[in-house]
Amino acid sequence: MILKATEENIKKAAEVIRKGGLVAFPTETVYGLGADALNKEAVAKIFEVKQRPLIDPIIVHISKVEDLEKLAYPTELAYKLAKAFWPGPLTMVLPKKEVVPSIVTAGLDFVAIRMPAHPVALKLIEESKTFIAAPSANLFSKLSPTRAEHVYEQLGDKVDIILDGGKCDVGVESTIIDLTTEPPTILRLGGLDVEAIEKVIGEVKITKENKKIKAPGMLKKHYSPRTPLRIMKEPKPIPNLRCGLLAFKEPREGFEVVEILSRKGDLREAAANLYDSLHRLDKQNLDIIIAEAVPEVGLGRAIMDRLRKAQGL
Ligand code: TXA
Ligand code: MG
Repeated sequence: MILKATEENIKKAAEVIRKGGLVAFPTETVYGLGADALNKEAVAKIFEVKQRPLIDPIIVHISKVEDLEKLAYPTELAYKLAKAFWPGPLTMVLPKKEVVPSIVTAGLDFVAIRMPAHPVALKLIEESKTFIAAPSANLFSKLSPTRAEHVYEQLGDKVDIILDGGKCDVGVESTIIDLTTEPPTILRLGGLDVEAIEKVIGEVKITKENKKIKAPGMLKKHYSPRTPLRIMKEPKPIPNLRCGLLAFKEPREGFEVVEILSRKGDLREAAANLYDSLHRLDKQNLDIIIAEAVPEVGLGRAIMDRLRKAQGL
């Protein structure tokens, strides 16, 4: 059931969380599929509904920085990052405390924590008087939802309430940083660019995929539309195929359907439109989606990471 994210409905949704149910809710990055992080049966429902493997840990969402130490052992760097970027699209991995059920962390001794910037998410967490474990509200390995309707299309009525808060501003998932290594390691490129992080805490490492999979968001085939996708620097349609184009700035000739990420060539706007455009292209019965490569700076790195994973090569 999709409900508009009014104050009243957020309260209703918080009640569902408290009772062990599932609520999909907007964050500034993508929609999350939330359950009470301290209730392991509730968290188990997330895995069931998403068809997510139990080896894949889930991010815990909090509404105030003070709550960090209720769930984890934060370091000085963690507070520095929280001060600079929370609420916002940054997830930190830290040693976990006992209260966090192991199903949340897939048995790891580390928990991933984030304070989202969306007012509906913050209100929901606050009202639920607990912490909310939430992966992106899509089926495992499929495209992440940036609108309430995307959630409904994939998960339907298996979710008790879908709170509709409109389209997500950032549009790609949070950047994940592992603070248990020295220097810290970026496990997933995302909505906060690495350059901004390095300005605050100095140099970080970026994990090469498949080394040791801490985040299945690092798996090669992930974030995928159903339609095959190919990245091209100079997009050209392939003869005899129904080709859709995911363009960066401008359209090109010969494609059945064209989606433009940002007419002004702004990578932030492009990231915000990425999944939305892919969802639309995926509904057009195309043989292939040709995605134009974007510059790999700032959020362009997260965009290219998602496109490569959708390409699966
Ligand atoms: O922007 C986001 O991060 C969204 C919104 C809803 O907050 N959430 C999200 O969750 O993208 P999910 O589950 O789709 O992706 C989270 C990634 C997964 O690849 C998971 O493996 C990794 O975070 N992760 C979660 N807990 C972890 C942990 N303790 N250690 C390492 N990686 C972890
Ligand atoms: Mg996900």
